[in-house]
Amino acid sequence: MYRTNTCGELNASYTEKNVVLSGWVAKIRDKGFVVWIDLRDRYGITQLVFDEERTPKQVLEQARGIGRETVIQVSGTVIERASKNPNMATGDIEVLVQKLVILNEAMLPPFTIEDETDGGDDLRMKYRYLDIRRTPIKNNLVFRHKVTMEVRKYLSGQGFIEVETPYLIKSTPEGARDFLVPSRMNEGQFYALPQSPQTFKQLLMVGGLDKYFQIVKCFRDEDLRADRQPEFTQIDCEMAFVEQEDVLTTFEGLTKHLLKEIKGVEPTDFPRMTYDEAMQRYGNDKPDIRFKMEFGELNAVAQHREFNVFNSAELVVGIAVPGAATFTRKEIDALTDWVKRPQVGAKGMVYVKCNEDGSFKSSVDKFYEQEDLAKWAELTRAEAGDLILVLSGETNKTRAQLSALRMELGERLGLRKPDEFAPLWVVDFPLLELDEETGHYHAMHHPFTSPKPGQLDLLDSDPGAVRANAYDLVLNGNEIGGGSIRIHDKEIQAIMFKHLGFTAEEAKAQFGFLMEAFQYGAPPHGGIAFGLDRLVAILGGQETIRDFIAFPKNNSGRDVMIDAPATIDQDQLDELGLKVR
Ligand code: AMO
Repeated sequence: MYRTNTCGELNASYTEKNVVLSGWVAKIRDKGFVVWIDLRDRYGITQLVFDEERTPKQVLEQARGIGRETVIQVSGTVIERASKNPNMATGDIEVLVQKLVILNEAMLPPFTIEDETDGGDDLRMKYRYLDIRRTPIKNNLVFRHKVTMEVRKYLSGQGFIEVETPYLIKSTPEGARDFLVPSRMNEGQFYALPQSPQTFKQLLMVGGLDKYFQIVKCFRDEDLRADRQPEFTQIDCEMAFVEQEDVLTTFEGLTKHLLKEIKGVEPTDFPRMTYDEAMQRYGNDKPDIRFKMEFGELNAVAQHREFNVFNSAELVVGIAVPGAATFTRKEIDALTDWVKRPQVGAKGMVYVKCNEDGSFKSSVDKFYEQEDLAKWAELTRAEAGDLILVLSGETNKTRAQLSALRMELGERLGLRKPDEFAPLWVVDFPLLELDEETGHYHAMHHPFTSPKPGQLDLLDSDPGAVRANAYDLVLNGNEIGGGSIRIHDKEIQAIMFKHLGFTAEEAKAQFGFLMEAFQYGAPPHGGIAFGLDRLVAILGGQETIRDFIAFPKNNSGRDVMIDAPATIDQDQLDELGLKVR
């Protein structure tokens, strides 16, 4: 038997018991007459003690020569510690060792395996298995497991069944590029890895399964960010005979269940905001509503003086930064430089300090009267002591810039608290989005999303104005889920494909199977998919999903541990009928 107990288990109630433990040597302290070893396993750390009086001499010598991360097994007696450590679950005891077996030697690890490590990102990724030995990463994986189990429990309890759908498929457009897999048996032909199981879950509804879910890998060849990986996991769900309200209620239920079980918080019903409202109030379709700083549109009270920058702008919009009237000139200049960086792209920034005595001091005092500034304060809901920051320009761009500034200030002022959870639904998304580069419209969600009832005719006259039965679940400024009520009518689906620029032949070639299925009694249906990695990271109080994925890719899409992607042999290429340029 390798062990009678784990390294996280023993406490004073085990005193005098003989135990066997196995694990990794985390730390050694040699005081000459006594040696302590911290033994680590998944469950915790237990202090081992070897001393001249009570430990056989050769065991003490063995302990002295041992290296970090060696895998050992020890037998000994649990004793009470002279100096207890209240910060450790096992801090009241230590194990007085009588026998030590080296199960496996270990090379010196390339970074220290402690909560705070000296290993940089690249090194940790190359030796991810060592990184996983560190408590923060290990805990993240255990946490992910808990969330996943709760999801399965809840959805299964609601009558959903988990069904697996294939990975070797044909393109499912979700707005990214596909990863392709060449077929040996069908030379010159390729499978696409699913960007999502979208079409399959719709076919499961045609198949009558009624309530489906799947915790499933999705693959998207797109630029990576902290909240994006080329392969990531969705909690993918679909329901038949539902309207938008049914879907929102069901998945608000799931989210509340997770918040309660995992974080112990019981939120009230989630607020709902239309896409237009979110853009107007926060400049963003995934607003972080843990803090205020809502946008105040100032066109009506800022375009009547001689200030041409504002007069020529499509939108003049400001936010009130709480308590920031004390910012120095230098701090404000630094913020101005921040919004002028190419990543944000503002041309400049106007500020107004709201003094405690009710007066205002602004960077545009030459142009505006106190009564003008008082109106700005009113519209941005600024109070005495606040700092109003104003940007202007083309509407969409200016909103995006001010939104970036709002998030940055929220972060800097500590308003984005990781232990606070502010979910909301954003609804009524536009059906189509104009691609500025090509001048073509594409589906904002995906081509299977239904327009709002009665808006089909608008598709010809004003495509950008058509709203969809589409919704996102937003948590703390992150899109953690998105879905829609689908088109279940073959004719309407054909109209959609036409508007998205597919010829009838192209639509048939790519989605003929779905259109065909719709002829055999497709029920009205809809669903949603959560980004599991994002959900877990945010519940865990973080935004970088990499730390919650066992073996993630780096920012260039590489797995530096196994060194993938990699070239392949000529033989293999020949077999697949492929040529590499
Ligand atoms: P969507 O494309 O919005 O919808 O994806 C659903 C959710 O998946 C997460 N997500 C990602 N997470 C990590 N890395 C990525 N590269 C990545 N891309 C997306 C997000 C997102 O909200 N088939 C539809 C769902 C539906 O209509 O039911 C779909 O895939 O959290």
